[in-house]
Amino acid sequence: ASILVLHGPNLNLLGTREPETYGRDTLDDINKRIQSQCQDAGHAVTILQSNAEHELIDAIHKARIQLVDFIVINPAAFTHTSVALRDALAGVAIPFVECHLSNVHAREPFRQHSYLSDIAKGVICGFGATSYTLALIAAFDALGANT
Ligand code: DQA
Repeated sequence: ASILVLHGPNLNLLGTREPETYGRDTLDDINKRIQSQCQDAGHAVTILQSNAEHELIDAIHKARIQLVDFIVINPAAFTHTSVALRDALAGVAIPFVECHLSNVHAREPFRQHSYLSDIAKGVICGFGATSYTLALIAAFDALGANT
């Protein structure tokens, strides 16, 4: 199957960005693990990081045309602000997992609301880079159930 992994704003800074909250892995380290996990499971993966809301929205729209089967998204700060990202995901109706490195529920109150969670297949947060590994396991599982 075909999987799209989206990383939102500031995740390009991983490794040096607040390492006590987000860990020391760089986005490149995480992406390499995502690539090999998908390859081992026999799935094709496309990965995109953007700091721009419209680029993430455009990638979600394109995913429908490209017949992407599943999306894993760490919307980063857009989680807590973006009705537009929510509408894009709802609009293409591609199942997705929302994923966060940190446990957003143990942080500031403004991080405890997500515009995406109630339309996600599920949400994984708090396990650092392992959150992506777990999100992909959930994606593979959901894809298996569809075939
Ligand atoms: C984050 C959590 C968000 O609240 C924050 O704005 C981020 C990263 C995470 O992965 O823990 O940029 O999505």
